[in-house]
Amino acid sequence: MRKKIVAGNWKMNKTLQEGIELAKEVNAKVKGLNASQVKVIIGTPFIHLAEVTKQVDPAVVSVAAQNCATEVSGAFTGEISAAMVASTGSQYVILGHSERRSYYGETDEILVKKVARALENKLEVIFCVGEVLAEREAEKHFDVVKSQLVNGLFNLSADEFSHIVIAYEPVWAIGTGKTATSAQAQEMHAFIRKVVAEKYGKEVADNTSILYGGSCNAKNADELFANEDVDGGLIGGASLKAEDFSIIVAARAKH
Ligand code: PGA
Repeated sequence: MRKKIVAGNWKMNKTLQEGIELAKEVNAKVKGLNASQVKVIIGTPFIHLAEVTKQVDPAVVSVAAQNCATEVSGAFTGEISAAMVASTGSQYVILGHSERRSYYGETDEILVKKVARALENKLEVIFCVGEVLAEREAEKHFDVVKSQLVNGLFNLSADEFSHIVIAYEPVWAIGTGKTATSAQAQEMHAFIRKVVAEKYGKEVADNTSILYGGSCNAKNADELFANEDVDGGLIGGASLKAEDFSIIVAARAKH
């Protein structure tokens, strides 16, 4: 059975003190929801990880980094290794977010290395895929997403792939207030599951959690999560308010 997941992506927001407050608030609200069947994750800036993991109940909230280095260790000034992330008690890492791909030039080759480092350190990976608007308008969105999956992940064994969560985030919907329709999300999620099944078989595909991201909020989460292949959400803006985030968790718990 695949997991239902609601993951927050705080991006570059919140000072350490603000982050601690937000994490505590999220922990308290989510605990009250009895959302035990939903895996709740918060993706914080690196600097917050060690402290935030201490502030939340690991049975209620798991913690994710938003990136990790391609290399194991050494002279890479300013980089943060997967081993360092794991040593904070964080269990997840978000990789391949479209902002990393477009602003920091993360290619498929780079992501293959990052995924390998994450898995070597027993981190679960939330791997983001998604097309830009021009690609959707040119009806290339399926090809784009398939190529991101094939080139970023399909070097993995089936066993390794069981530690991957996929997040479909159409780039035109991220931070724009323009959500994919429920039908567009379901269509792409079913396609992703089919592509995974072709490579790893139906059982692995059925056990893979596929999250939707892109202006998912307290108002539209319910409709998105009602879809068979939408296993949860990767939430940006709405994860910065504990109240909105907990409404989204409740929406996921309901279906
Ligand atoms: P958004 O961001 O919810 O603010 O659109 C989602 C994401 O980038 O993960």
